[in-house]
Amino acid sequence: MSLAEIFPETQVHEESEPELRARILELVGEHWRRFHQPKAFVPGHSRVPYAGRVYGKEEMQNLAGATLDFWLTSGPYALKFEETMKEFFGARRFLAVNSGSSANLTMVSTLCQEELVKRLPKTGPKRMIAGDEVITPAVTFPTTLNPILQNGLIPVFVDCELGTYNIDPHQIEAAIGPRTRAIFAPHTVGNPLDMEMLCDIAKRHDLWLLEDGCDALGATFDGQLCGTFGHMSSLSFYPAHHITMGEGGGVVVNDLTLMKTATSMRDWGRDCYCEPGMSDTCGKRFGWTLGDLPKGYDHKYTYSSIGYNLKVSDMQASVGLAQTHRIGDFVARRRANFAQFMTRLKVLEGDIILPVVHPKAEASPFGFPITVAEGVDRNALVRWLEDANIETRLVFGGNILRQPGYRNIPKRVHGELVNSDAIMNRSIFIGVYPGLTPDMIDYAADRVIAFFRGRG
Ligand SMILES: Cc1ncc(COP(=O)(O)O)c(C=O)c1O
Repeated sequence: MSLAEIFPETQVHEESEPELRARILELVGEHWRRFHQPKAFVPGHSRVPYAGRVYGKEEMQNLAGATLDFWLTSGPYALKFEETMKEFFGARRFLAVNSGSSANLTMVSTLCQEELVKRLPKTGPKRMIAGDEVITPAVTFPTTLNPILQNGLIPVFVDCELGTYNIDPHQIEAAIGPRTRAIFAPHTVGNPLDMEMLCDIAKRHDLWLLEDGCDALGATFDGQLCGTFGHMSSLSFYPAHHITMGEGGGVVVNDLTLMKTATSMRDWGRDCYCEPGMSDTCGKRFGWTLGDLPKGYDHKYTYSSIGYNLKVSDMQASVGLAQTHRIGDFVARRRANFAQFMTRLKVLEGDIILPVVHPKAEASPFGFPITVAEGVDRNALVRWLEDANIETRLVFGGNILRQPGYRNIPKRVHGELVNSDAIMNRSIFIGVYPGLTPDMIDYAADRVIAFFRGRG
């Protein structure tokens, strides 16, 4: 029933769709202005989070707009988001996926698909099969490691460096064996890996190079964006990360030969590459004869890889799209917060190991990592900071081989994982995310210093 039918006596102006939409979005903006502003910081009372969402009315308005569109699945917002991120990285393709974990799964699984073989050049890295090895650090996030195991590949664990918390690049070459096919490593806590060394090793040994860039959006090495060095790279858009869409992630595809298979892995494994809402992009939807299928079998239902459905919804993508405009500002604020901690905590050299960034790198810090000196009780520092309302995190899984779920995994371990154990026992990180203000950083730095000085 229209408003005019309900109120026949009253002259009612029935708003057009754009008018009604504009009014709703204005109200959403008003809601953001009144109810989503950060509260004033009260030292000791307010929480100093390690991470969090930072957003404006644009994110909420995009989300409301996507709701009104009611597209629901990956749609126009997802395409726009992918296009924006592809341009940001100057990549061949950017795939929006539903988490950083899914991005990692997409990348590793892509390299294991038989379908890939027909596209790969004669020289260079080969398709991976079960039993092949992937070099990866022992200090890692579980879902960087999991796709290696889930694809029947064997992880080769290499120790990490204290200070950078990254895989020790000097140990990688010696860890390569006859079945090693790939290196897969994260830019831990946003601190770039030594891409010069990694690219050189990968090239000389015909290895795939996968970057886990989930914590490192905007980081650079030698002036080049991290995520653009490897054959593929992953991103996470979980709220703790540099930009967010709630749950979400992305795959940066830098290698042309991987583009189709990676897309197929995300999209059920199908051979068809129609964008959402499209039906005959290849122009011969019923004209293919592939595999042992009958002639003309619908391309939409033809599967050339063993895939998943890892797509994002348009609601998620709408939030992500608004966040892309903030990347520059977010990275700058993370760097400023990191620099402020660095300046303040220099006095603790000897008590703690300060973060170390490669001279050619510029981090896009996810947090500020601290390793306490031997003999200092790391857990006491954690309690001290948490009691002061300063959130802390450990460096992900520590030495992941000590985790209950990973004790009996198939693996090869290169050398001793001494630093990985040290990181597990003595390291934490605290926040540098853009929601933190200079007075919050000062307060957190004061408390860290007080732990070592005031408290003795
Ligand atoms: C290095 C790294 N890789 C992968 C992930 C997984 O991302 P998501 O939580 O979006 O699945 C994370 C999450 O924090 C991470 O830090």
